[in-house]
Parts: sequence; structure tokens; C-alpha cells
Amino acid sequence: MSHVKPVRKAVIPAAGLGTRVLPATKAMPKEMLPLVDKPAIQYLVEEAVQSGVTDILIILGRGKGIIEDHFDRAPELETALQKPGKEKQLAEVLGIPKLANLYFVRQKQALGLGHAVLCAKAFTGDEPFLVLYGDDVIAAPEPVCGQLVRAYERYGRPVVGVNAVPWADVSRYCSLKTHPIAGAERDFFVDDMIEKPKPGQEYSNYSILGRVLLDADIYPILEGLPTGANGEYQLTDAMAVYAREKGMTAVDFVGTHYDMGNKLCIAQATVELALQHGEIGADFRAWLKEYCKHL
Ligand code: UTP
Repeated sequence: MSHVKPVRKAVIPAAGLGTRVLPATKAMPKEMLPLVDKPAIQYLVEEAVQSGVTDILIILGRGKGIIEDHFDRAPELETALQKPGKEKQLAEVLGIPKLANLYFVRQKQALGLGHAVLCAKAFTGDEPFLVLYGDDVIAAPEPVCGQLVRAYERYGRPVVGVNAVPWADVSRYCSLKTHPIAGAERDFFVDDMIEKPKPGQEYSNYSILGRVLLDADIYPILEGLPTGANGEYQLTDAMAVYAREKGMTAVDFVGTHYDMGNKLCIAQATVELALQHGEIGADFRAWLKEYCKHL
């Protein structure tokens, strides 16, 4: 095992415009869209915390203020819940601001994910940090951030969380040039990657799905980065330079990924998480079985 600094910090970029989920995202950040009863971004904060993270920076933009409110105390609500029968709700509401040390910064223009991560430079300093893409919820037996941290401890290099995606979808995501690592079934060495490849440009159908672990050496690359796909500063382009110069690790993580920036995925995630839900899961399953008979 290599000797690396502990991973205590995470960054959640949540400043994008969410144009693929309009009209829901006209006044409501897509990161606040609920999956049953919890906003997507709370799943991310909980995943980071379960992986050992203590300090989280959320990158916001105009109109994203309710994300800050969600993680703040709510005195009126707390007072209203201080009555018999409301203990569980009160504990839940009081628990949210205590999840982690939360910090907020504004990305003044949504110029791309790479540009958003650059806003975290002062926060992360010279420590390694996780990036959880604000609209990617992943349900997993072991938090995916934790799976990345383990790989970072094994190899001492930045890590990207990947899954094999259908070949038809690779052009929506990115494509990685991977090489097997002897004795490791789910870990790969990465020495290149491409964002939103056109047909013929793909290296593989391994795509990054919303979780990466980086170190401060990414910042000089981001600072000199030209715009890429969609005219945005793409984090993948910066990680491609990093991978070519020093190499990175990819972990084929165990978990189910839900893209909250995509209407079909939101509907699927809602059904799957409702089925697993402690309070309504059994009733929802019974209803869904009946409903499916008429499809
Ligand atoms: P996306 O590309 O999915 O977000 O970025 P978007 O720009 O909101 O998507 P469209 O408009 O529906 O295509 C992934 C994550 O990175 C954040 C987004 O908020 C999202 O959580 N992001 C993206 C930023 O913080 N800043 C940006 O400039 C772009």
C-alpha cells in the first residue's frame, strides 16, 4: 500500500443550468430534485460522509440558494416539530446540517465542470479530494467514494469511478483508455481519455460516472485548459492530460448509477429507490405489481 494523505475533503459541483430537465429546473436546481423524499444532493453528501469525508464544498451558481438552505438549520420548522409524534421528523431535520462541515462558493458563470472544479482550489489546498458530480446519484452496497479511496490507497494515483456503459451511450459520456492491472479484477491503469467521443474516437466503453478522486496537480492543468466539447471547460480534458503525463487509476465500481440530469433516469431512479424505501417500499411494491398487470 502506498503512503498517501488521508482523503477528508469532497467537492460537489452543482452550478450547472440543468437544461435537459426543463421545465422542472427553471426555478429549482436539478440537484434538489427529490428521489422519493430526499433531494439528490443529500444522497451525495451522505455518500461522501460514509466514505470518511469531513469537509464538503458545494459549488453553486445563481438561483441555487435553496441548496444552502437545505443544509442549514431551520428554526421555525424545528419549533413546529417539537411536539409528541414528530420526534423522527425533528431528528431528521436536525441531522442534516450536522452531516459534515459544509462550505459554499459560487461559480460566477456555468463555463463547464472543469471550470467549476477550479473554484475549489483554495478549499482543497494540497490535499487529495473527491469530486461528486452534483447530478449523479449512485446506490451501492459500499459507498462508491469509499471504493475510490481504497484504490487511491492501493496505487497512490488519482482515481476515476467507471462502469461499462452501452456502446450507444459512450458519446454522451466519455471513453477511457484502460489497461489491466495484474491481480486486480476491477482496477485499471488509465493513460488517456476523451470527453463525448464521436463514432470511431472511442477507446473503450468504460465511462466515468460521476465520481473522481483528484489531487492538487490537476489545478495547473485546469488553469491552462482550452474549451472542449460543447464549448465548455471539460474536467475530462484536464484529467486526460493528467493521465497521459502521470497515469491514473480507474475503478469499475459496484453500484447503480442514476443520472438526475436525464428525465428517463429520474423516473427509473424514483421507482428503484421507492422499492427499497424503508417506509413505503412494501406498499409501493404491491401497488407496482398490480399496476404492471395493466401495462
Ligand atoms: P452537467 O453537464 O450534467 O450539468 O454537469 P448541466 O450543465 O447542468 O447539464 P445540462 O444543461 O442539463 O446539459 C454535471 C454536474 O456539474 C455541474 C452541474 O451542476 C452538474 O451537477 N456543473 C456543470 C457545474 O457546477 N458548473 C458547470 O459549469 C457545469
